[in-house]
Amino acid sequence: MLLPKITDNVKIPPIKIQGIKTKLTPFILKSISWDGNGVYFEPFVGSGVVGFNINPQRAVFSDTNPHLIQFYNDLQSKKINSTIVREFLEEEGSKLASSPADKNSYYYTVRDRFNKSPNSLDLLFLQRSNFNGMMRFNSSGYYNVPFGRKPHRFQKALITKITNQVKWLEEAMDGKDWRFECMTFEDAFKLVKEGDFVYLDPPYIGRHDGYYDAWSLELADQLAELTQTSGAGYAFSMWLENQYRSNLHMQKWNDGVLLTIEHFYYVGASEKNRNKITEALIVSKENHNKVT
Ligand SMILES: C[S@@+](CC[C@H](N)C(=O)[O-])C[C@H]1O[C@@H](n2cnc3c(N)ncnc32)[C@H](O)[C@@H]1O
Repeated sequence: MLLPKITDNVKIPPIKIQGIKTKLTPFILKSISWDGNGVYFEPFVGSGVVGFNINPQRAVFSDTNPHLIQFYNDLQSKKINSTIVREFLEEEGSKLASSPADKNSYYYTVRDRFNKSPNSLDLLFLQRSNFNGMMRFNSSGYYNVPFGRKPHRFQKALITKITNQVKWLEEAMDGKDWRFECMTFEDAFKLVKEGDFVYLDPPYIGRHDGYYDAWSLELADQLAELTQTSGAGYAFSMWLENQYRSNLHMQKWNDGVLLTIEHFYYVGASEKNRNKITEALIVSKENHNKVT
């Protein structure tokens, strides 16, 4: 049995993005029951924190963000590895440290370089020194997240931490049948068969997050339909309600079991500025782990 997994030691992947499920991963992993005999699919893989912590033998990880997929493919093909990452961050981090914290920062030199010729090392550098770990592109596909304004960001301790995150992922992939594909969720579902398991974490409806592709209610409805008729096991993450409103789209998900957990989003550092939200996880009936 691959799932459930009981853990409070969630491993953090190297590329962070908004909506990353780090805090909810223990809840997700303990709520699902799956034998692991089929293929694990994650069509909105993002940082991969959920799937990489599940660590299945066979998986298709996909996303419409080509840069994320390129990063995972470069790691899998060993074009980059933790040693290369360490050397790169030491060198580029020291250039960042000797540049100003404003628009003349070396951060923007790397950002321009990435936009002219996208590559995985620059993506990692930007993602770990930008504003709030956001991953955002404009309508022409250009990465446009501003600098986090910390020129001394890449201290020894942070470089070691990132290098270890890369090493963990490198080792997790080794010897596994994992595919990383840049594709829409519709294309991913064409590969899904009975006995497989699909974890779904699409962009949240009603919240503009600046992901690679625009999300819409039509796509959300299509996802609900595809998932609930696929014959595969599934778990679907979405917000359910906050103090102001409920997510009406959840009515489209009436086939599985609804599990909920309360989560706090912090706006800035102050304890007072925290917003409570109820997060939902819908799990297909036969994959719901009732014993917790
Ligand atoms: C909420 S994030 C996933 C976060 C991920 N679970 C994590 O913990 O990091 C949603 C992801 O869906 C991707 N995406 C947006 N539209 C998509 C589509 N139509 N098909 C597949 N992926 C899409 C985005 O690029 C983004 O990486």
